[in-house]
Amino acid sequence: MHVLVVGGAGYIGSHMVKLLVQRGFEVTVLDNLSTGHRDSVREARFVLGDLFERDTLEDLCRKTCFDGVMHFASYIQVGESVREPAKYYRNNVFKTQNLLDVMVARRVPCFIFSSTAAIFGEPVRIPIGEDHPKQPINPYGRGKWMVEQMLEDYDTAYGLKSICLRYFNAAGADPEGELGERHNPETHLIPLILQAANGRRSHITVFGNDYDTPDGTCIRDYIHVNDLCEAHLLALQRLWDGGGSSAYNLGNGNGFSVREVIETARTVTGRDIPVQYGERRPGDPARLVADSQRVRVELGWKPRYADLATIIAHAWQWETRS
Ligand code: UFG
Repeated sequence: MHVLVVGGAGYIGSHMVKLLVQRGFEVTVLDNLSTGHRDSVREARFVLGDLFERDTLEDLCRKTCFDGVMHFASYIQVGESVREPAKYYRNNVFKTQNLLDVMVARRVPCFIFSSTAAIFGEPVRIPIGEDHPKQPINPYGRGKWMVEQMLEDYDTAYGLKSICLRYFNAAGADPEGELGERHNPETHLIPLILQAANGRRSHITVFGNDYDTPDGTCIRDYIHVNDLCEAHLLALQRLWDGGGSSAYNLGNGNGFSVREVIETARTVTGRDIPVQYGERRPGDPARLVADSQRVRVELGWKPRYADLATIIAHAWQWETRS
């Protein structure tokens, strides 16, 4: 089976490529390297290109018969999406539609889409199941939800099968230490904490300690990047086995506050981690915790690295690589 991984040079995409290659799939990566890293793709065919270039896409899908596509190429910063919505709708929605149109034209049958907890907006109940109301509160979340709805319509009209995986907080790194998070600028909590532990930052700023949570800081559901990737494989296999289009929430179902994450990082690293308290970051819900029963039951997904200390230990191994 040959899988096209769009955005395979990025954080989650590169872990996915490694897993697919390990499991014996043929893999082609398409990435424009706007945020990804060429050296994160080691053992797969690499094509430099952008989803905007429809000709490149058509050419690629004409020359290679793909059995499925995984799509990781999106911008991911909520705050930036508020300041620059055009950038987000163009990249995350319009370019995705280009890809889907070429898939339909070339009869590529299966699509796995990287969606997000941000489609739910401010949660009305916790944990968040698949049927929770979708009321995204920023262009990032709205764009992802638009694509989810587009996918339903493309299935009805054109028979394109898809599974949307709604990530909660992707974290951690390749247990073998070859890959990890390399965002520039880094905005995610765990890598920032570990940079502070490693002396690459003076401190970590906690965005708000007056939330309605036990210790006043935001609660999130951190899921190991490899566990996310395993879910992608199960999803693709489900479609290949004749399963219908679907969407799943992906988290461990355990919420940790920012303070708890810092405390766990102190234990894992054995380092002092200086903390400062700052203002709330606009658009941050107090709690985001997944109900992932459906993906466990329907796809047989089971996280291997559910423990927060293990997630942080793998990220620390990456942070301290020589
Ligand atoms: N946080 C801090 N200080 C920092 C960075 C983050 O206190 O320097 C806090 C945030 O306020 C939040 C938590 O740590 O409460 C986690 O923040 P991240 O930025 O790591 O992750 P988010 O929950 O904001 O974002 C995740 C994904 C995004 C996605 C979003 C959707 O990483 O890509 O969920 O809700 F858009």
